[in-house]
Amino acid sequence: MTTTPGASSESHARIAEGLYTTGWHVERQFVDPVLLRELRAESLARWEAGSFRHARVGTGAEKRLQTEVRRDQVCWLDETDLTPAQSVWWNEIELLRRAVNEALFLGLFSYEGHLTVYPPGAFYRKHLDNFRGARHRRVTAILYLNDGWKREDGGQLRLYLDESGDGPFVDIEPLGGTLVTFLSERFYHEVLPATRERLSMTGWFRTRD
Ligand code: OGA
Ligand code: MN
Repeated sequence: MTTTPGASSESHARIAEGLYTTGWHVERQFVDPVLLRELRAESLARWEAGSFRHARVGTGAEKRLQTEVRRDQVCWLDETDLTPAQSVWWNEIELLRRAVNEALFLGLFSYEGHLTVYPPGAFYRKHLDNFRGARHRRVTAILYLNDGWKREDGGQLRLYLDESGDGPFVDIEPLGGTLVTFLSERFYHEVLPATRERLSMTGWFRTRD
């Protein structure tokens, strides 16, 4: 693993500002291209090794496979068993957590995340991340790992700006290196189907249980 420069304090400040003013932010090139390449390669290796599972909806006893709601597959990150690039990522996200806490006093206590693959045609219907039983998720942070993504590939993250989840929305292209952050309890969002495999690292900053 090569040492790469970490995300700048300017990018942390832009993210905190976005979360404060509108509740969401898109930061392009949040990670260095070398780290991005390594995260992508490691994710693909785990995908090909069959380490992913179909994502489920709900928590605890109510957790179910609901393929009409979501068709992505996930591989949870285990803090005690990270690959070299994932350790660098964990450190990056920890620095961001602290910077956002210092700016906004959100009391973000920890991070949880998984690698995510949307096979071609997969989607995730409109939802809120902070569903019943998972109230501790305060800020969603998604890093895209895609190489050379084009608009016609689809797979946009559609973020609904009104609290109702209807009305105006923005479509965010899942370009490699982009970090999207938003307040988990506030924004309905969905993932549109793509024509190619769509890779990301999806995570949440949580308050204390
Ligand atoms: C999620 C999710 C959005 C994306 O995993 O909860 O909404 O752009 N992901 O991958
Ligand atoms: Mn979501």
